[in-house]
Amino acid sequence: MTASRRHLLARATCALALGTALSPFSPFTLLASTAHAADKPLVLGFSQVGAESEWRTANSNSIKDAAKQAGITLKFADAQQKQENQVKAIRSFIAQKVDVIAFSPVVESGWDTVLREAKNAKIPVILTDRAVKVSDPSLYVTFIGSDFVEEGRKAARWLIDWAKQNAPTGDVNIVELQGTVGSAPALDRKRGFEEVIKADPRLKIVRSQSGDFTRAKGKEVMEAFLKAKDKKIHVLFAHNDDMAIGAIQAIEEAGLKPAKDIAIVSIDGVRGAFQAMAAGKLNVTVECNPMLGPQLMQLARDVVAGKPVAKRITTEEGVFTADVAAKELPNRKY
Ligand code: AHR
Repeated sequence: MTASRRHLLARATCALALGTALSPFSPFTLLASTAHAADKPLVLGFSQVGAESEWRTANSNSIKDAAKQAGITLKFADAQQKQENQVKAIRSFIAQKVDVIAFSPVVESGWDTVLREAKNAKIPVILTDRAVKVSDPSLYVTFIGSDFVEEGRKAARWLIDWAKQNAPTGDVNIVELQGTVGSAPALDRKRGFEEVIKADPRLKIVRSQSGDFTRAKGKEVMEAFLKAKDKKIHVLFAHNDDMAIGAIQAIEEAGLKPAKDIAIVSIDGVRGAFQAMAAGKLNVTVECNPMLGPQLMQLARDVVAGKPVAKRITTEEGVFTADVAAKELPNRKY
């Protein structure tokens, strides 16, 4: 028997002796069913949202690189922004009896059935980047990712200061490019932003529509916002940098100056946003860190080994304005 198996057996015996109520992913359950042999590489099934943004590409690369570094066998499936593809991928990971499943859910709801299937198969599930709404929180072990509500608040706090200095009187009309409908970042960022802008009744969201987190859609929706000439647009709030970058093109094509005629606040902090800020076309980006790979690999190991892990692990993030963009650009990792 290997040292790690001896360790698991000792923990399980101890838990039983103490009469502890064992969680579905407790050391005992793992030993009885999916115990992972220390001499075999751990197998992680990962279902990714898609390749919709610069952020997502950085996130996928971080996960692939970290798996290689950690000697973990990664089964990576791209869901192309479709929940049904993620459900299929998770079912296929269950059929393949992977050691652990991780996924970044396209949308928040509709996961109970497939997650129960994973739980019944005694395969632990880790959520990365985006959260789910489930009836039973024991359907996943842990969730690692950003606080999207706080990101929305940070964007709004910047805007309140901007409005004080740049629009001391009158209404401030905001157009909003939302992320994917029903996704956690779209719902949470909107909520955080609206919560904070209430402090200044002059700040009004006059139009709001999804651009699905992509440049092409961001441009298309911004063109439509600009064509409707009934209300002057003072500010664009984009739920991610890619949509902001698409919108910048639309603004320029409409003969306006982005970041000057229309202030632009967005979220992610990808290299493209820093380039846009350095070129004077974007005012600010709120960071959302996609480099989750190394932490995910450590979590996968810990969860499979039956070690206790926190239910929620939040990443630390900053806010970057145009005046620091040129200096920060060479330091950006994504
Ligand atoms: O879930 C994170 C979000 O998804 C990022 O802000 C966005 O760029 C991505 O597509």
